Amino acid sequence: MRSRHAAAERAAAGGLLRERFPILGRSVNGRPLVYLDSAATTQKPEAVIAAEAAYYRTSNANVHRGLHTLGDEATRLYEGCRSAVAGWLAVAPAQVSIQRSATAAINLVARGWDHHLKDGDAILVTEMEHHANFVPWQMLAARRKLELRVLPVTDGGELDLARLDDLLDGRVKIVAIGHVSNVLGTVNPVAEICGRARDVGALTLVDAAQSVGHRPLAFADTGADLLVFSAHKCYGPMGLGFLVGRPEVLAELEPLEGGGEMIEWVRLEGTTWAEVPHRFEAGTPNVAAAAAFPAAIALLEELGLADVRAHEQELTGYALEKLAALDGLVIFGPGDPARRGGLVSFHDPQVHPHDLSTILDQLGIAVRAGHHCAQPLHRRLGVVATTRASFGVYTARDEIDALVAGILEARKVFAP
Ligand SMILES: Cc1ncc(COP(=O)(O)O)c(C=O)c1O
Repeated sequence: MRSRHAAAERAAAGGLLRERFPILGRSVNGRPLVYLDSAATTQKPEAVIAAEAAYYRTSNANVHRGLHTLGDEATRLYEGCRSAVAGWLAVAPAQVSIQRSATAAINLVARGWDHHLKDGDAILVTEMEHHANFVPWQMLAARRKLELRVLPVTDGGELDLARLDDLLDGRVKIVAIGHVSNVLGTVNPVAEICGRARDVGALTLVDAAQSVGHRPLAFADTGADLLVFSAHKCYGPMGLGFLVGRPEVLAELEPLEGGGEMIEWVRLEGTTWAEVPHRFEAGTPNVAAAAAFPAAIALLEELGLADVRAHEQELTGYALEKLAALDGLVIFGPGDPARRGGLVSFHDPQVHPHDLSTILDQLGIAVRAGHHCAQPLHRRLGVVATTRASFGVYTARDEIDALVAGILEARKVFAP
């Protein structure tokens, strides 16, 4: 344990495999780039960039269509991505549907469960959801006259589990929760909540956009019926997300989009669907992104997800300590880095987040300022915007020092 901790500390000081991420060598406004926005999207290692380019250079063709060599290669790469994700999350390939994004996957579920719902049923989400796991359920509730229930957040930035007994009754047919909050960093007890949801017969969906690729995680660990995530938040390409599910649940889900590839037979009288998961994959997919994502998984497996997690935790602990030392700065979320993902959001009463991020950008430091697609949560926190620093495998401790120095610079300008 001690040696693992020491290794994590050493790694945090320098960042893991930084040299594999070409963009980290660039400068911004004449300063070396300090990229602290990995929760929005992670940077891409050379192996992912090369795999995407190699696909277009050597294998580009449409999938599942051409009876020719390139078509076969493209199909093999596309299906290879499905198998790699399945192996990673310890499920069968047929349990993995390749989507455009986590958002697309959630919308698919929010449109495809209609036949299990009736007027007056309820959906339970939480107050800390990203809009991607909130708005589709709000739209479903409006469309089908359902009640949208919201599990509140405590002052300490955790889910108020004491309220579950009131909110989770037999009328609740869907429970949709985030695993790791993209604002508070809070790691939610999803397995416990999904277990309680199953006891009342509700479908469960876990939004794992901030946890897959950031900690060891098998699909079964979440206790969920369905799980979604995006490749671009775990070192993979943009335009690629996944819906992972229990086979009996996926079999009950209606497709959202009709078109090529998702059918078995099309007749003038009607159409039958292809097998799961192909029925959820209408049209030409992002084959290049699928071809590249296994390189990101390979990099994370080379590092070991336990070490990736230890690195993020170490950096988070360091950031919490350094930021807490800044007079008046308000930090949101749990104080214990073991209960958080690799990000810290804060509010500086002396400098507006947009001013702060502009000054930081002049210093080459990229952070996110705003509501981070979580307006209901910001309302709960009593602020319209926060500044968020978020970390990846490549993040080094001195980048957090640069952030702290940058905040002090901004204070000199805005609160002299
Ligand atoms: C917790 C969470 N869920 C969902 C999403 C949506 O991901 P995407 O935009 O890749 O669909 C994000 C993106 O920031 C997120 O942080």
